[in-house]
Amino acid sequence: MNVLILGSGGREHALGLKVSESSLCKKLIFAPGNAGTINIGRNIDLSVNDFEGIKALALEEGINMIIVGPEDPLVNGIYDYFQNDLLLNEITIIGPSKLGAQLEGSKDFAKEFMNRHNIPTAKHQTFTKENIEDGYMFLEQLNSPYVLKADGLAGGKGVLILDSLGEAKDELKKMLIDSKFGSASSKVVIEEFLKGIELSVFVITDGNSYKILPSAKDYKRIGEGDIGLNTGGMGAVSPPPFIDRFFIEKVEQEIIKPTINGLKEDNIHYQGFLFIGLIKVGSEPKVIEYNVRMGDPETEVVVPRIKSDLLNLLKGVKDGTFSEKDLNISEECAATIMLVSKGYPEKYEKGFIINGLEESCDSIFFQAGTKTKEGNTVTNGGRVIAVTSFGHDVESAIKRSYKNLELLDFKGKHFRKDIGFDL
Ligand code: AMP
Ligand code: GLY
Repeated sequence: MNVLILGSGGREHALGLKVSESSLCKKLIFAPGNAGTINIGRNIDLSVNDFEGIKALALEEGINMIIVGPEDPLVNGIYDYFQNDLLLNEITIIGPSKLGAQLEGSKDFAKEFMNRHNIPTAKHQTFTKENIEDGYMFLEQLNSPYVLKADGLAGGKGVLILDSLGEAKDELKKMLIDSKFGSASSKVVIEEFLKGIELSVFVITDGNSYKILPSAKDYKRIGEGDIGLNTGGMGAVSPPPFIDRFFIEKVEQEIIKPTINGLKEDNIHYQGFLFIGLIKVGSEPKVIEYNVRMGDPETEVVVPRIKSDLLNLLKGVKDGTFSEKDLNISEECAATIMLVSKGYPEKYEKGFIINGLEESCDSIFFQAGTKTKEGNTVTNGGRVIAVTSFGHDVESAIKRSYKNLELLDFKGKHFRKDIGFDL
């Protein structure tokens, strides 16, 4: 098969490495890819939202499958674009329809969906500038801290958690009236704060049946002890040691099954990955968000634990054989530590040479913000390299990543030194 992977992060490198190991994989292309993906395929400099460019590339290269890494092209309707074109509709898109992608593209849509299908989530209401006064009243009924969510995609910045009622009202006004997040905050979901521990559950589905991938926990804040600004993710572990088989069974019965069945009932075509962000409140799972793609850096710990042929599994999503395929997961645990550029997630410099990538060790270096320049690999983003390791438990995997990340060096290299501190 000829496979195209859209995206340029550690997630795409990790998916690509697994796909490249399949005997079914003949050709592997990344658009745009990074300096790491060049070692396992070919990079084409195309934006993930340039559907016409992707169409031309797919036809020229005889692409059979497109794995969509980030959410943007899905929310923009890449699935429908391919499905509605007679030249393209044989190509398997790993990702849902435009309507399905609204599970991530609109928090209000996701909440309505969860209400309709009795899926446990935080108590909530949606407001616009027309009923902002009702929004203030709703806030008054809740307890601190207050959770405000911009309805649309806001580059991971659209969720605010505020301690005081005054601040919460003020921010609600900024979002609805002053368009703090542009059109993404023309609607705001206000919800009850859930106290508990967060984890992410991943599913692959063909729209009828589903398979549960390993779950993971990521570390989103920039600072040690989980403080400071939100980032794309500074590290992750799989499985989260605080959950067991019974908890996953509960998630399956109360969340995964109703979600897959709900999509069918609502006639929403959904195929590909589904990422369910949960908070475990006591022993009860509650959904805080759906994402319609894999997580980054969760992919860097989830995908390496898959023992089965991932490409073969994904092939089944289109040809009707998905439910018959096996999914075997390694008993080993995995951890990843993200090396980032100094200053991230705010201002940072790029273009520094990265040394040590060719060193052999018992970790995998998944590249993210990197590119090749004059024969060198240089930094090209905030998140630069995810160092993934295995271990018989999460602690030993984390320890191994910390040892091996010392092999890598670039100016401004920064990482959190406490991944797993809370486990
Ligand atoms: P989201 O973009 O919905 O994942 O929200 C970003 C982060 O905000 C999550 O990873 C949680 O840490 C936090 N969060 C979101 N919703 C809630 C909630 N209802 N209660 C507590 N924390 C939340
Ligand atoms: N690591 C969180 C995400 O991918 O959304």
